[in-house]
Amino acid sequence: NTIEWDPEETGKSGYDHYMLKEIHEQPRALRQCLQGRVDELGGEVLLDELGALDPDTVQFVACGTSYHAALYGAQLFRSIGIPAQAFIASEYATSVPPIENDLVIGVTQSGETADTLSALREARHRGAKTLAVTNVVGSTAARECDEALYIRAGPEIGVAATKTFASQLITLSLLTLHLNGSEDDRDVIAGLRDLPSNVQAILDDTNAREIAEEYHDSDAYFFIGRGLHHPVALEGALKFKEISYEHAEGFPAGELKHGPLALVTENTPVFAVVTGDGEQARKTIGNVKEVEARDAPVIAVTDGASDVERYADHVLEIPESTPRTAALLANVQLQLVSYHAAALLDRPIDKPRNLAKSVTVE
Ligand code: G6P
Repeated sequence: NTIEWDPEETGKSGYDHYMLKEIHEQPRALRQCLQGRVDELGGEVLLDELGALDPDTVQFVACGTSYHAALYGAQLFRSIGIPAQAFIASEYATSVPPIENDLVIGVTQSGETADTLSALREARHRGAKTLAVTNVVGSTAARECDEALYIRAGPEIGVAATKTFASQLITLSLLTLHLNGSEDDRDVIAGLRDLPSNVQAILDDTNAREIAEEYHDSDAYFFIGRGLHHPVALEGALKFKEISYEHAEGFPAGELKHGPLALVTENTPVFAVVTGDGEQARKTIGNVKEVEARDAPVIAVTDGASDVERYADHVLEIPESTPRTAALLANVQLQLVSYHAAALLDRPIDKPRNLAKSVTVE
């Protein structure tokens, strides 16, 4: 269940930064993540490394980018009828929720983040079953938890997490499919199969750099999304602030009007993730109109299924796909915008000030 990665890969292979290289490694990382785990004919997901899991409820604990993956995972669990909640790991121990046949999932790329390890220890101490979703075989989280599920992204050198976030989303998606085992999953499984080539299509033809050029000296940057696109909005903003040092915030699209809208001006571009043409898209388009009316530049990240383009100044296009894969595809475009904005601002992209790849203190 582990994948060998060539040590050659730890060089930059002609890319200016590890971050850009790792963004471009996503199709391969996702293929590795899916390899041998999906039986498309049978419409089944097989995760041989896991023992029997039948939780009544699920609690996620995680930090930073991994917390955004946890928010996404919690939504997927709720969609299969299992109550689930994501906690910021450092807050978990301050008021541990009741535990009764709960599965506590630590999402941690490194498997070494002190806050996450401490939350997992607390959960185990209270009698929960624990599962580590991690990139590092033999990491502390993998060793200490009852179960470990590997995201198989390969080594990530850039401090800003990119390909590991994509692999976390897909691993959590596989986990819910594995536990659900329903006929309705066939479309979702097909969406996963197409994902690596859809990511490649974005990498081959993106206008992210032009968007970064146009807006990289703005006052602040806002990111909005609903449902599965909410964690993407949070992650888009986190990536932006980590490497560009510019002020960026992500919000649930509907929450903007309850305060943050006061910050919106003609100098604060708003990135809106809108896919499909359902109720959620319609509501987010309503929120887009609210910022457009305040003269903020709108950049829609969209699959073109709705008419959001009518209200946007620019579009970052993604291929059509299922809602859960659309979130990942939208994130790739936002990673690229952050990267190019930081490059234009001449930031030390792979080693941002004050940040560490793995934080081993609480
Ligand atoms: C650090 C890194 C972040 C990362 C977070 C959690 O703060 O700078 O990029 O998301 O730790 O890391 P983990 O290894 O637990 O996923």
